[in-house]
Amino acid sequence: MNLILFGPPGAGKGTQAQYIVERFGLPQISTGDMLRAAVKAQTPLGLKAKTIMDAGGLVSDELVLGIVSERLAQPDCVNGFILDGFPRTIPQADALVDVLSGMGKSIDHVISLEVDTDEIVQRLSGRRTCSACGKGYHVVNAPSRADGFCDVCGSALLQRDDDREDTVKHRLAVYDQQTAPLKKYYEQSGVLRSITGTGAVEEIQRQIVAILEG
Ligand code: AP5
Repeated sequence: MNLILFGPPGAGKGTQAQYIVERFGLPQISTGDMLRAAVKAQTPLGLKAKTIMDAGGLVSDELVLGIVSERLAQPDCVNGFILDGFPRTIPQADALVDVLSGMGKSIDHVISLEVDTDEIVQRLSGRRTCSACGKGYHVVNAPSRADGFCDVCGSALLQRDDDREDTVKHRLAVYDQQTAPLKKYYEQSGVLRSITGTGAVEEIQRQIVAILEG
């Protein structure tokens, strides 16, 4: 099963992807996570991507396509995968068709998580992530027991540079201009399903499972 989780920043793509990984045993391919790992490791890709990501813009299609194509060719993708944060532009979607058709594959489902702007700004401006183990928190909705420190490993919690309110607003504008048109793209190919991304995480999981098993 080849799946795209689609939606604006903060829609819950990463949260839901983690559940699908456990439930269906598919690998999660998050371009955001791969780019952040490259930034942390200060690779040539990471050095090119850092300024753009911190400002909330999109890294070039060419760079992102390079890392996604390599990842899709790994053996753990043979029975399917979850794309999270990719594609984000029409050229990326066209290139994905080419890469997959070269492997005799195509996209089976695109699930779009619908969340309004106020909720997104609230979610992202309060998001914190453990600097060591990566566990996610929210200062209001899911706080850690000790303010600023991870419940699991005790390391410091950090705010992503692109989760500051001004940058979140810019990311949303970029989404509207460059990524939202992909909904029509996938609607026309008959694979798009839209569901609400607000409410209990478990209820959203249930709707996703119903689509994937239906
Ligand atoms: P990326 O990491 O992909 O960021 P994003 O798409 O902006 O997504 P987020 O990780 O912010 O949100 P999410 O939808 O995964 O939500 P989450 O589950 O974390 O990309 C970062 C940057 O990398 C981009 O800006 C760009 O520069 C670059 N990049 C990446 N891919 C690229 C590409 N293809 N092309 C070019 N550039 C690219 O949830 C968010 C918060 O909400 C969490 O705190 C969570 O706990 C909470 N939450 C989740 N669900 C719920 C719920 N139901 N109710 C309440 N809270 C919830």
